Amino acid sequence: MTAAPHGERRSPGMRLDIVSIFPEYFSPLDVSLIGKARERGTLDVRVHQLRDWTHDVHKTVDDTPYGGGPGMVMKPEVWGEAIDAIIADGRAAGSPAADSPITGSPITGSPATGSPITGSPITGSPATGSPITGSPITGSPATGSPFAGGPEASATPRIIVPTPSGRPFTQEIAQELAAEPWLLFACGRYEGIDSRVMREYGARMRVDELSIGDYVLAGGEVAVLVMVEAIGRLLPGVLGNVHSAVDDSFAPGAMRNLLEGPVYTKPPVWRGHEVPEVLLSGHHGKIARWRRDEALRRTVANRPELAAAIDPETLDKHDRKLLDELAFRVGPEDMAN
Ligand code: ADE
Repeated sequence: MTAAPHGERRSPGMRLDIVSIFPEYFSPLDVSLIGKARERGTLDVRVHQLRDWTHDVHKTVDDTPYGGGPGMVMKPEVWGEAIDAIIADGRAAGSPAADSPITGSPITGSPATGSPITGSPITGSPATGSPITGSPITGSPATGSPFAGGPEASATPRIIVPTPSGRPFTQEIAQELAAEPWLLFACGRYEGIDSRVMREYGARMRVDELSIGDYVLAGGEVAVLVMVEAIGRLLPGVLGNVHSAVDDSFAPGAMRNLLEGPVYTKPPVWRGHEVPEVLLSGHHGKIARWRRDEALRRTVANRPELAAAIDPETLDKHDRKLLDELAFRVGPEDMAN
């Protein structure tokens, strides 16, 4: 599978496991583009309750930090058990020898409860049952899930840990992740997850710590929702218009380092505000030029550091003239403006 949006191509599907102590956060994944992608089998999302892998009566997932300081740190043992079990399940489910590629895990929760959260316990997790009602991933009969792909028997997921200390999550990374068959998101809370978890799995598979912005959220759940939406809409067939991802702000290609300009629809005049005439002209060349001018203008105004990073080789004569008019120079010297 590639990141490029090809509406016509049959997708082998992407498996996406999310581990959190607040699975309820993920009910938005039942709706809209992502919900439809799940119904079609393009995306197989499984949300897991981390506490299912605890062994104490309080289902403890955190402890005080070594070295002192405020807050709590998520314990490595519970994360290790959770991730091991999910990997084992994904391998079993993806194995050609398995009865069904992916079993159970209804798209919108167990029919008995109507829970929007997809199944949680995996065989091998503690026999404490799941606080989230949902069908077990393994052991349930094949339910006719449209999901046709899935990890290979020997495969490992790419693990994503959302954290404000991570590398910035960008459109480029979204594209890269959209090409993966299997992602596992580990949502930290409190002061984060014991670092040895990332070290342990980082030695065996790709682990990325990613930040969605320079602010601190209460936990990784909302960041995962952001990432899943950004990744999911790039999967083949998810966007209605196969071309729309190409014109996105930040999209690799002509839009790299550019913000998308303004958009308009009918009526041509609304409360005295007119749609720019060129858009009504039907002249495709002029429209494309206008859109590029507007993208450049908007990027210089709103994100000068992005505009400064535009590769000068990608600028044509007209682009350069416009940037001159805006008194903007591409290159590091304008970064501070
Ligand atoms: N968890 C808390 N804040 C976050 C952020 N900015 N990005 C990703 N995960 C986070």
